Amino acid sequence: MLVTNKDLLVPARRKGYAVGAFNINNLETVLAVAEAATEEKSPAIIAVTPSAIKYAGLSYLSKIVKTAAESSAVSMSLHLDHGEDFETESKCVAAGFTSVMIDGSHLKFEENIALTKKVVDLAHPKAVSVEAELGRLAGIEEKTVEEKEAILTDPDSAKEFVSRTGVDALAVAVGTSHGAYKFKGEAELDFERLKTISGKIDLPLVLHGASSVPAWIIEKAAKYGAELGGAKGIPEEHIIRAISLGIAKINIDTDLRLAFTATVREVLANQPKEFDPRKILGPAKEAMKEVVKGKMRLFGSSGKA
Ligand code: G3H
Ligand code: 13P
Ligand code: ZN
Repeated sequence: MLVTNKDLLVPARRKGYAVGAFNINNLETVLAVAEAATEEKSPAIIAVTPSAIKYAGLSYLSKIVKTAAESSAVSMSLHLDHGEDFETESKCVAAGFTSVMIDGSHLKFEENIALTKKVVDLAHPKAVSVEAELGRLAGIEEKTVEEKEAILTDPDSAKEFVSRTGVDALAVAVGTSHGAYKFKGEAELDFERLKTISGKIDLPLVLHGASSVPAWIIEKAAKYGAELGGAKGIPEEHIIRAISLGIAKINIDTDLRLAFTATVREVLANQPKEFDPRKILGPAKEAMKEVVKGKMRLFGSSGKA
């Protein structure tokens, strides 16, 4: 079933679990998420970025995801991740996305509000949910108080932002960042700030840059030749704490990329005679599926479909 992010996230925030938003680029990633969701009886958000659209095409991706949702018993949404302009938002709404993110986090406060409001006015009449972002995703290691204030989400501004835009979910910056290199030393998130924000905002809050970069995947990839020294993610205990403080949607891309890469390397190294793409991509899909299932259990969404 294809549903909106609002349908998935309002109960999550109320009941204290989170729904994973998994980035997809091709058939294998969609299958991995859909099969994991079915086996875990978990809702899932299938996230598509503008660069995924550039790679695979809006029509291909939206039809693959809709086919997955329509043939599954669990609830899934088709979500635009990090849309940055009104044109992309409009195209995704027209293509049947059930949720869109407008990422105006690089804009000034008033400009972010104006663009976000414009997208809400486009999306809501068509029953499409809207996520926005306030603050900038960046690590906070070795930053001064002033530097942190400049990038992390300000709780009072966040309250004003959601009431003036009417968004359905808000992505907050509390020290996470995209990719496989999130921290040089200890992982550090600003939980006090998250607590203050969730005390002021009743909406589902979103954690981007939430991959854990599991050591076992890095070790497997390295064993077969990958060079990923210094990769570090968000510890699972931090994820659990963030959910207890109002995070209801958690974005995962890097951990899927790592599982894919480690497994493709393993197959190619161990089976040098293999050249059937299905025998190479099939195990990679299974590896991503196991990662997604693990996230669903960690986030508490298993059994909630
Ligand atoms: O923020 C989302 C992704 O991790 C970056 O994805 O390479 O498809 O833009 P992208
Ligand atoms: P990761 O790079 O930590 O997987 O974050 C993905 C993300 O935030 C997609 O929007
Ligand atoms: Zn993101």
